[in-house]
Amino acid sequence: MSNCILITGGSGYIGSHTIIELFNKGFEVVSVDNQSNSSINAYESVKKITGKEVKNYTIDLCDLNATREVFKNHQFTGIIHFAAYKAVGESVEEPLKYYHNNIASLVNILALSKEFGVKNLIFSSSCSVYGNVEKLPVDENTPLPKAESPYAYTKQIGEVMIQDFCKVNQEFNAIALRYFNPVGAHPSGLNGESPINKPNNLVPIRTGVAIGKMAQLTVYGGDYPTRDGTCVRDYIHVSDIANAHVLAMGYLIHQKNSSNYDVFNLGTGNGVSVLEAIYAFEKVSGQKLNYKIGPRREGDVIAVYSDSAKVFKALNWQCEHDIESMMDTAWKWEKSMANS
Ligand code: UD1
Repeated sequence: MSNCILITGGSGYIGSHTIIELFNKGFEVVSVDNQSNSSINAYESVKKITGKEVKNYTIDLCDLNATREVFKNHQFTGIIHFAAYKAVGESVEEPLKYYHNNIASLVNILALSKEFGVKNLIFSSSCSVYGNVEKLPVDENTPLPKAESPYAYTKQIGEVMIQDFCKVNQEFNAIALRYFNPVGAHPSGLNGESPINKPNNLVPIRTGVAIGKMAQLTVYGGDYPTRDGTCVRDYIHVSDIANAHVLAMGYLIHQKNSSNYDVFNLGTGNGVSVLEAIYAFEKVSGQKLNYKIGPRREGDVIAVYSDSAKVFKALNWQCEHDIESMMDTAWKWEKSMANS
C-alpha cells in the first residue's frame, strides 16, 4: 500500500507543521495550495527541519479538472484537508467568498476521493462550530447552534457534507478535528505562522507588536463575565495539533475506528484569558507588551475550552506544550523572521 498523503493547504500554518510530523513518521506527502494566504517558503522551512522536499502543486481546489490531474499522478492513502479561508471577521463581510471556497473545494475533494478510491480523510473543523456554549468544557456531544459567522457555518456544513458522504460510501472513513486556538511555532524557530494577509489572530498580532511591526495590541473587550473580564480560549500548540493529525491518519489507515465518520475536539482542556495569555508572553519574552483594553469585537464568543477526553483516549494523544512554551516558540519565530 502507498503511504502517500495528500495535504491541501500544505504551505499554511497548520499544514506545514503537519507535513513535518508526517515526514518524521515516514509518510510521503504531496501538497496542493493556491498560495492565497501562505508562502511557498514554508516548504523551505520544512526542508531545513526534515531534510525532505515537498512535492507541491499550486492549484485552486475549486478547479475540479486541475485537481483531478493531481489525483491521476499519485496514489493517495489518505487526505488531510486544511485548505480554507479562516478569518471570522472577513467571512462576515464577504460571506460568498467563504461559502464558495470552503464548500466547493470540499465537494471536489470528496468527489475525487470516490473517483480515485481514496479511503481516508481528515477534515479541519473548528471549535467555532459550538458558538456560545452554555456548559464548559465543551464536548463533541454538544448540539451545534446556529453559527456565529459564515466561517463557522462553512465548518458546520463541511462536517455534515462529510457525514452524508460517509453514509452512502461505507468504505470511506473520515474524521473531523475541531481545533480550538492553534498558536506557537516549531520549536526549532524555523517554521511558524506567516500569513500573507494582515494577521487577525491574537498571537501573531502580539508578537508583531512586541517586535515593532505594529504599535499596540487592542484587547477586544474587558467587561465580559469571565474571571478578569477578557475572553477565554483554549490555546493549543500547533505541533501538538500536527501530531494529532498523524495519529488520526494512522488510526484510520489501521482501521481502529468503529464508525466510518467521527469527530474529535483538539484542545488542551485549559481555558486561558486574553490577559493571562499576555502575561505568559511577557514572562517568556521578558518584554512589556504595549496593549490597551478596547471595545468588544463582533462575533467573538465569550469563553470556550475543550473537553478532550474522547481524543486523548481514542488516539492516545497528549499535549506536550503548555501556554509558556506556546508563547516562547511564537516569539522565537517572530524574532527569526525579523532577522531573515
Ligand atoms: C476563531 C475561532 C477559531 C478559528 C479562528 C480562525 C472561535 C471561538 N474560535 O478564533 O476556531 O480557528 O477564529 O481565525 O470562534 N483578541 C484580542 N485582540 C486582537 C486579536 C484577538 O483581544 O488583536 C482576542 C479575541 O477577542 C479572542 C482571543 O484574542 O478573545 C483570540 O482571538 P483570535 O486569535 O482571533 O482567535 P478566535 O477568534 O478565538
